[in-house]
Amino acid sequence: MEDQAEELRAIMKEKKQAAAVVEPTPDSASRQNKKTRIITITSGKGGVGKTNVSTNMAITYAQMGKKVILIDADLGLANVNIMMNIIPQYNLYHVIRKQKKMSEIILDTEYGVKLIAGASGFSKIANLNETERVSFIEELYTLSDADIIIIDTSAGVSKNVLGFVAAADEVVIVTTPEPTSITDAYGIIKIIATEVDNLNINLKMIVNRVSSSTEGKRVADRMIQIAAQFLNLKLEYLGFIYNDPLVPQAVLRQKPFMIVDPKGKSSICLKHIVARLEKTDFNDSEGFGRFIRKLFGRDWS
Ligand SMILES: Nc1ncnc2c1ncn2[C@@H]1O[C@H](COP(=O)(O)OP(=O)(O)OP(=O)(O)O)[C@@H](O)[C@H]1O
Ligand SMILES: [Mg+2]
Repeated sequence: MEDQAEELRAIMKEKKQAAAVVEPTPDSASRQNKKTRIITITSGKGGVGKTNVSTNMAITYAQMGKKVILIDADLGLANVNIMMNIIPQYNLYHVIRKQKKMSEIILDTEYGVKLIAGASGFSKIANLNETERVSFIEELYTLSDADIIIIDTSAGVSKNVLGFVAAADEVVIVTTPEPTSITDAYGIIKIIATEVDNLNINLKMIVNRVSSSTEGKRVADRMIQIAAQFLNLKLEYLGFIYNDPLVPQAVLRQKPFMIVDPKGKSSICLKHIVARLEKTDFNDSEGFGRFIRKLFGRDWS
């Protein structure tokens, strides 16, 4: 795996350098400085809310005026398109089978987000071989026009997931307060720490389905402390999302919760999370409250 990760990083580096020297265009100066930020959303346990987080995070970024591509990389049980009520003609299956380029299967959605649909039902490709994985990541870097690429993965440890983790600038681990979910989150963090040899990865966490902010903080503090003590790893707490009936209601209506009720509890929590992602990574010098006001037109703090 270390060799694989090294190989992926080498490809990524090459691609990023190549992207910086693309043919000169009027905006080439700004392009040279532009870096596509890749955020991979993953978890140890299944069903903790990754797809809801990925989809609504992508929409929030799009509402902020960013060019966002959401990739449903759950190659076994894709369902971002179901959450958005879209029936895609092509999906990652066609890319992996080399029938289509990634750029050819991008779909526009009504939410301002571009979607690369997953390959549900094709269990044969749920485990890519090494060549397929490398070519997948290479394809990923052809999408350098985006400001942000958000990758929704399947739960648990697989080489695919670790590949998407290795390709990311930031990895967001989603957990719920359930002990099994916390244990599995720790498990995947441990595997990332030992298997993915990318010292530049920023590991972050979201605690989903909490009943109070205190509960979220308690879970996060424990994980941060364990990761530091046993893995010598810095884990950053991005925030929590309340257990909110809006989420299953939205799923049932096949509309993202951010759209169904932008002022709902879960939507506001997610906006805080995105603001936190922005603040920490872009070193925004403005105060948190002002920053949020500017982004979303009102004070959430
Ligand atoms: N904050 C929340 N409040 C209430 N229900 C939630 C919340 N987040 C997620 N859920 C519910 O949990 C279920 C799983 O959510 P989701 O599909 O986003 O998880 P997942 O981690 O992507 O699952 P999988 O591992 O199968 O891909 C959904 O039915 C959703 O309605
Ligand atoms: Mg999912």
